[in-house]
Amino acid sequence: MNLKVLGLSLLLFEVSCFTEFEITVPRDTVTGFYSEELILPCTFPVDSSWDLRSTVITWQRGLDVIHSFYYSQDQLDRQDQRYVNRTSLFNQEVAQGNASLKLDKVTLQDAGVYSCSVSTNTGSQKKSFGVKIAAFYSEPRLQFSLLTDGVNLLVTSDGGYPSPTLQWLMENSDITNQTQTHLMQDTHTGLYVVSSWINLTEITNSSLTFILHNKPLGQDIRREIQLYSDEPKDVTSSCSMGSKSGLSDPTILLLIAIKISTSPCFSSLSSSVSFTVLI
Ligand SMILES: *[C@@H]1O[C@H](CO)[C@@H](O)[C@H](O)[C@H]1NC(C)=O
Ligand SMILES: *[C@@H]1O[C@H](CO)[C@@H](O)[C@H](O)[C@H]1NC(C)=O
Ligand SMILES: *[C@@H]1O[C@H](CO)[C@@H](O)[C@H](O)[C@H]1NC(C)=O
Ligand SMILES: *[C@@H]1O[C@H](CO)[C@@H](O)[C@H](O)[C@H]1NC(C)=O
Ligand SMILES: *[C@@H]1O[C@H](CO)[C@@H](O)[C@H](O)[C@H]1NC(C)=O
Repeated sequence: MNLKVLGLSLLLFEVSCFTEFEITVPRDTVTGFYSEELILPCTFPVDSSWDLRSTVITWQRGLDVIHSFYYSQDQLDRQDQRYVNRTSLFNQEVAQGNASLKLDKVTLQDAGVYSCSVSTNTGSQKKSFGVKIAAFYSEPRLQFSLLTDGVNLLVTSDGGYPSPTLQWLMENSDITNQTQTHLMQDTHTGLYVVSSWINLTEITNSSLTFILHNKPLGQDIRREIQLYSDEPKDVTSSCSMGSKSGLSDPTILLLIAIKISTSPCFSSLSSSVSFTVLI
């Protein structure tokens, strides 16, 4: 009787010892940047009785093995094809309980749920966390072309992910629904190319603002396009040559100045471009 009780309490003691072995992974989803390297953090407790030779570290995505380590070295025989030559542990730091994985050249296909499992002579545990991939949109390019009755302004930005939200302002009012937006996904990389345009039938002295927002990255691109209309003073005299209006179009000077001001977290970049078009 007494022996049984002793046995049970020893067992409980061992179980509670085991629960002290706790690995640490991120609580929230980790965001990786397209084409860059990403560190997937995972740490485990090491004490004086810890033994490297008994340590097994396995990184998986679902059932796919991404990286494993045992017998004191990397074991990549069962590594999934998609991860070949792209993974490494910080081998010098394993003895400090660092089981983090470095993943190189991140692609959109790397998004998913990753698990880190660590087993040592002092305990074992497996924990999972999510990874999402994002990419910054490039500096937008402005192009304009002449229409029979106005000007078409086209803004293009590429290499971003996920799809952005766009907004156009004329002075301070929202004119987004007078614009058109086309979103294209690169078949190879999966990144988006976004084009958005507006047709202006009359140019007045006003400011147009293009705003692109990439929410997961907090990327906010805000570009102001200054429109100037400079009606020549001699419109009446040049029109008087041919009394029918529309025969000789008055010359309109369209000056478009772009003020570049990046949001604080993308700092310092600031410049301005201006060019004139004679219509
Ligand atoms: C593991 O080691 C690497 C390399 O020193 C370091 O960048 C990383 O932050 C470490 N990870 C953790 C979770 O301590
Ligand atoms: C991995 O690297 C080795 C050595 O550099 C190379 O021979 C092999 O083709 C690479 N494999 C892949 C899938 O990139
Ligand atoms: C454009 O948006 C405004 C509000 O932002 C709305 O009142 C108006 O009906 C919209 N016009 C069209 C054509 O959708
Ligand atoms: C702008 O003008 C072009 C050419 O006339 C036309 O194809 C396009 O639909 C117009 N876009 C908008 C937003 O009105
Ligand atoms: C626009 O502003 C410029 C100077 O800033 C002025 O010369 C021009 O007359 C203005 N155009 C109109 C249509 O008000």
